[in-house]
Amino acid sequence: MKALLINGSAHANGNMRIAMEEVGKTLKENGVNYEIVGIGAKPVHGCIACGRCRETGRCVFDDDPCNLFAEKLAASDALIVGTPTYYGQPNGAMLAVMQRLF
Ligand SMILES: Cc1cc2nc3c(=O)[nH]c(=O)nc-3n(C[C@H](O)[C@H](O)[C@H](O)COP(=O)(O)O)c2cc1C
Repeated sequence: MKALLINGSAHANGNMRIAMEEVGKTLKENGVNYEIVGIGAKPVHGCIACGRCRETGRCVFDDDPCNLFAEKLAASDALIVGTPTYYGQPNGAMLAVMQRLF
């Protein structure tokens, strides 16, 4: 079994990374392999509701990591998302990724 962990923070080695490593330890102890991927600090497109993903299985925006995340998710059994709280909500980049993945 494999879990994909998406870190929504712009900080590669910030608090969310520490939290995800802790989750990873517990996954490993329970026989679950995992991979942590990060959204990073570069801009992430929001969904523009063009519908092309329903035809091609891919987002039209290929210059951010969302299509890569979708490929990794398809090869995983579970998804865990981790996001810093920004003003009581997930950060904007994580919301954009989730809206495009689902
Ligand atoms: C713009 C901004 C807004 C934030 N809003 C909240 C908040 O509403 N509640 C909270 O508990 N922390 C808030 N924080 C703190 C972050 O969620 C917290 O520092 C988080 O652990 C950062 O994760 P990172 O180091 O992986 O980027 C905010 C931080 C920033 C930069």
